[in-house]
Amino acid sequence: MDVKLENRNIWITGASFGIGLELSKALLAKNNKLVVTARSRSVLEQLQSDYPEQVTVLCCDLADEDSAGKLKADLAMSCSHLDTVILNAGICEYVDLDDLDISLVDRVTQTNYLGFVRSLYAAIPMLRNSSNLPHIVGVSSASAYVGLPRAQAYGASKAAMRHFLQSLRLDIFSEGIDVSIVYPGFVDTRLTRANDFEMPFQLTTQQAVERIIKGVEKRKKEIAFPKRLIWPLRIMSMLPAAVYTELGQKMVRQN
Ligand SMILES: NC(=O)c1ccc[n+]([C@@H]2O[C@H](COP(=O)([O-])OP(=O)(O)OC[C@H]3O[C@@H](n4cnc5c(N)ncnc54)[C@H](OP(=O)(O)O)[C@@H]3O)[C@@H](O)[C@H]2O)c1
Repeated sequence: MDVKLENRNIWITGASFGIGLELSKALLAKNNKLVVTARSRSVLEQLQSDYPEQVTVLCCDLADEDSAGKLKADLAMSCSHLDTVILNAGICEYVDLDDLDISLVDRVTQTNYLGFVRSLYAAIPMLRNSSNLPHIVGVSSASAYVGLPRAQAYGASKAAMRHFLQSLRLDIFSEGIDVSIVYPGFVDTRLTRANDFEMPFQLTTQQAVERIIKGVEKRKKEIAFPKRLIWPLRIMSMLPAAVYTELGQKMVRQN
């Protein structure tokens, strides 16, 4: 069953740049009301001044327990209910085995995993108030499918998010709340512009957002793109570990 993303109350995290900003603009054009969250207040306020009737700004550092601790109360002040929640905020940092830095793993985990859980817990009571087919959408990553070089922090945070949502989907099913997980491949944003390696089949934010909206409206449980990157990763995740290790060596950076 298709449920159009129109005239809904939507909360989107990571709305200030990249995929989240593009998605926010697309959803505003479809007459949705948005609560937008990120740390960069000025970008969110610009969105609000462009769409004063439709945007509520809720600034928060999701990696900070104190800042995120106010989310539940702030959301309740912003709207009566939420129909769709898009948990998209995230950062990417790669591990360097010559410079083991636990604070890097902590930063990535606090933002991508615990920040996501904090957001979700704040949103669930508001989703329960919706009478409009409520929906949780989590933006994970294609890197959640299988261990990739230097992705010990980022890949693990996205795989944890995937696992959390797969479990939640079972527990929340009887309440009529759908759960979709998004697995983007490479998308041209601030996040990937920091990468110094080849990124096959990279999409623009517009191409990514088209795919996300289509999948969310179809209530797909898994929204993974582009297929030409996703299928090899899925197949790699099914290979015996010894075979995968042999093949995966080719992806390791040679210094
Ligand atoms: N680009 C890709 O190729 C790709 C691929 C797979 C998955 N993804 C995922 O897609 C999502 C969006 O990424 P993007 O590529 O659009 O990156 P981006 O352009 O860097 O945007 C990331 C968004 O997350 C927000 N954010 C980061 N840390 C935050 C924090 N502590 N508290 C609140 N908000 C925070 C940022 O806002 P502020 O900086 O203003 O706080 C920004 O709005 C991420 O979860 C990423 O892992 C991206």
